[in-house]
Amino acid sequence: MTGFFIALEGSEGAGKSTQARLLTEWLQAAGKPVLLTREPGGTALGEQIRDLLLAPGAYAILAEAETLLYAAARAQHVREVLLPALASGSVVVCDRYVDSTLAYQGGGRGLPLASLLGVQEFATGGLLPDLRILLDLPVEVGLARRLSGSEAVNHLDRAGVAFHERVRSTYFDLIDADPACWAVVDADGPPEIVANRVMEAVAARLPLFPPVDPDGLTGDARATVVETR
Ligand code: TYD
Repeated sequence: MTGFFIALEGSEGAGKSTQARLLTEWLQAAGKPVLLTREPGGTALGEQIRDLLLAPGAYAILAEAETLLYAAARAQHVREVLLPALASGSVVVCDRYVDSTLAYQGGGRGLPLASLLGVQEFATGGLLPDLRILLDLPVEVGLARRLSGSEAVNHLDRAGVAFHERVRSTYFDLIDADPACWAVVDADGPPEIVANRVMEAVAARLPLFPPVDPDGLTGDARATVVETR
């Protein structure tokens, strides 16, 4: 039995975490075993690496070292969590994966794509998503949302508009290079409208899932969240 691997990608403030949760609830309501997880994180080691990378006032980590830390978290996550879940037939919803490294450390920080791809191949053993969803939002809108919202602000949120423009345009370069692997979802709008767009994108790839009215979702549709904190 093999599962289905969905990676959610996007810039700051695109509402990825909310959408990951709503997508998970919808898939569960459709009767699928679902695992919701995130990067960096998803394992005890990954969450510790996350704290190192994202804690406010974090030590200034160089781009190369940052890349290897994200990759170390990913290597553990793939083998400890993702592969077993996929082998047992679960749908995996992962909040960020390889393309975040290509967009942030490649586009944002300017590291060469070829080097990053080599590191990713080693870290993941070649595990790639079946579907990547880009939650897309103009940079200014996303940053304004993030900096005015209640969510914790990490150092990348403060990296500036030019950095995040490069991140966004790198996502579009990746999509142009391999459009069949991607769905682009307009993340501008109320969360439930964006959730409908995400569900449509997933349903188009998983036609066996009947669409579920998101208004009908209740707290009974609980996600299996990898909680390692
Ligand atoms: P997160 O809290 O998940 O932010 P967001 O809500 O914007 O997804 O923090 C993840 C941060 O880590 C985000 O700013 C992007 C960054 N990141 C990378 O730079 N490279 C990576 O490979 C990954 C997985 C994340």
